[in-house]
Amino acid sequence: MSKFILAPSIIASDFLALDRVVVQCEAAGADWLHVDVMDGRFVPNITVGPFVVAALRRATKLPLDVHLMIEEPERYLEDFARAGASNLTVHVETCPQLEDTLQVIKSLGCRAGVTLNPATPVSRIEPVLGQADLVLVLSVNPGFSGQEFMPETISKVAQVRKKLDELGSQAFLEVDGGINAETLPLMRSAGADTFVAGQGIFQYSGGIEAGIRALRATVTE
Ligand code: DX5
Ligand code: ZN
Repeated sequence: MSKFILAPSIIASDFLALDRVVVQCEAAGADWLHVDVMDGRFVPNITVGPFVVAALRRATKLPLDVHLMIEEPERYLEDFARAGASNLTVHVETCPQLEDTLQVIKSLGCRAGVTLNPATPVSRIEPVLGQADLVLVLSVNPGFSGQEFMPETISKVAQVRKKLDELGSQAFLEVDGGINAETLPLMRSAGADTFVAGQGIFQYSGGIEAGIRALRATVTE
């Protein structure tokens, strides 16, 4: 059975009750926690930094899947690794020395992830596909939770899946943005194995546990 990883995106949760949110996600069987780091420059929004990652690290043993939507991420890799990040994912659009950056992330003991905006072609990350531990295909423009899923990104997932298989890579193929019970199966069929969901879990009518259960129920195999 192929991998199936669910990662709630905590910026869509109630930040005033983050400790309760973490406990509920763990109890509901979340595999990772997805943490969106935004700097107000690469994206038009500002969220959290190493300080919050460290707080989450104290609250849970779940892997922390840190998505860096920041300019010059090289400057902060060590801070996030020391704070307890398990995965560090950088944008190809912000990393002129991408191979070196991924190597540094690995040397810090984290999984090295690479991601690209919906408008960025897969060819931009092809040189590092053999090196990455995780490839994140964004299915919305970065910056906010609760945006509309972009169906044109489904074919990008299939492209990445094909190239990873050709390389014999075991990297996680992650999708992020507008993932819910309708869109998850589309991305799964295209070859994704790791699913980030914000609104799909935290605004689910029956609550966090029901939201996670509903997403897991979309996978029949
Ligand atoms: C968007 C972020 C996503 C977002 C997901 O820039 O990278 O992780 O929070 O939230 P939903 O699932 O609500 O689109
Ligand atoms: Zn994200």
